[in-house]
Amino acid sequence: MAATVLVTGGLGYVGSHCCVALAHAGYEPVVLDNLSNARESVLERLRELTGAAIELHRADVRDAGALDRALANRPIEAVAHFAGLKSVRESVERPLDYFDNNVNGTARLLEAMARHGVRRMLFSSSATVYGVPQRLPYTEDHPLEPVNPYGCGKLAIERMLERAAAANPDFHYAALRYFNPVGAHPSGRIGEDPRGVPENLLPYVAQVASGQRPTLRVFGKDYDTPDGTGVRDYLHVMDLAEAHVAALRFLEREHRSIAVNLGTGRGHSVLEVVKAFEAASGRPVPIEFAPRRAGDLPEYWADATLAAQELGWRAARGLEEMCRDAWRWQSQNPDGYV
Ligand code: NAD
Ligand code: UFG
Repeated sequence: MAATVLVTGGLGYVGSHCCVALAHAGYEPVVLDNLSNARESVLERLRELTGAAIELHRADVRDAGALDRALANRPIEAVAHFAGLKSVRESVERPLDYFDNNVNGTARLLEAMARHGVRRMLFSSSATVYGVPQRLPYTEDHPLEPVNPYGCGKLAIERMLERAAAANPDFHYAALRYFNPVGAHPSGRIGEDPRGVPENLLPYVAQVASGQRPTLRVFGKDYDTPDGTGVRDYLHVMDLAEAHVAALRFLEREHRSIAVNLGTGRGHSVLEVVKAFEAASGRPVPIEFAPRRAGDLPEYWADATLAAQELGWRAARGLEEMCRDAWRWQSQNPDGYV
């Protein structure tokens, strides 16, 4: 029988792609999501892509009773914990909501896992836990000094996991520090579906290419980077999803915990992304330069060595494929999930 993985936030962008990768690797994903940032129609698409009757618990991770119901009726191999709020900007405006949803949510989830003897967790952390780069690329031993409430919450959760594992030798976790996930499943059936005006670069660029928005505003043109625009380590969401499978196998094999970067190990500038997207879509992406966005760092990228050594995982897909798959999703679903 396939081992079951509870995927919190499994209807969201990264979680939905991870469900597909888990099913492909022979696991049975069960989703728990409160739909605060997702649509129920994702579920049908997941069932279609995986051929599995994926079960949905429409519930909040802070709801102990709902967690008990999701964890009680079968053995759970692991929890892949994606449920959380993710806007850095919003976290500055509503820090307490972010700490409650993300940090308290994880505490409630860990308690429920302990009640039901679930011993493994994959956690969606973020490169934002590092804060201002003291050296690049970021290695996992770079100081952890996040500069916004969202990042402080991610670090608080990493610390909580560390202490929980120290107190219970049977419990192991992987804190997966994502860099910039982009792109979509190659089928074009699932992808990133931001509400309102996209905050992130790729979905915005995709909407400009499709004609839904007139121009991309490039935030900053005088950074100390090769072309003056911001540099990030973009990674294909399917590479990221597959890294979760590799991390789960690591926990099963090694019986120890890990905090690890998930990136490609190379950076691309905003202008490089725009150029690659124009090539992939065959559409123009007009730009205008705008002032730097508050809180943005000039550049950062991952040292991806540890993931290769410990998880046996490397990102396999390049910028061209990220843009091609993002464009397929955008052009086949101009209004996102409906
Ligand atoms: P997303 O918003 O698309 O997915 C999150 C999902 O969690 C949504 O389906 C939402 O409905 C659900 N959710 C939120 N709060 C919940 C709660 N209290 N109970 C139950 N469900 C809840 O975001 P994503 O891009 O898929 O990100 C997934 C995780 O990865 C998040 O924890 C995010 O912080 C982290 N992360 C994302 C990025 C990125 O750029 N996308 C980068 C680094 C880390
Ligand atoms: N950018 C633009 N115009 C836009 C949007 C973005 O020029 O309309 C630029 C940004 O200034 C930055 C780059 O594109 O240089 C990438 O910006 P994103 O918003 O796509 O990504 P960030 O690196 O700013 O943020 C992401 C996640 C955060 C996470 C952070 C650190 O969205 O949740 O990475 O890992 F905290």
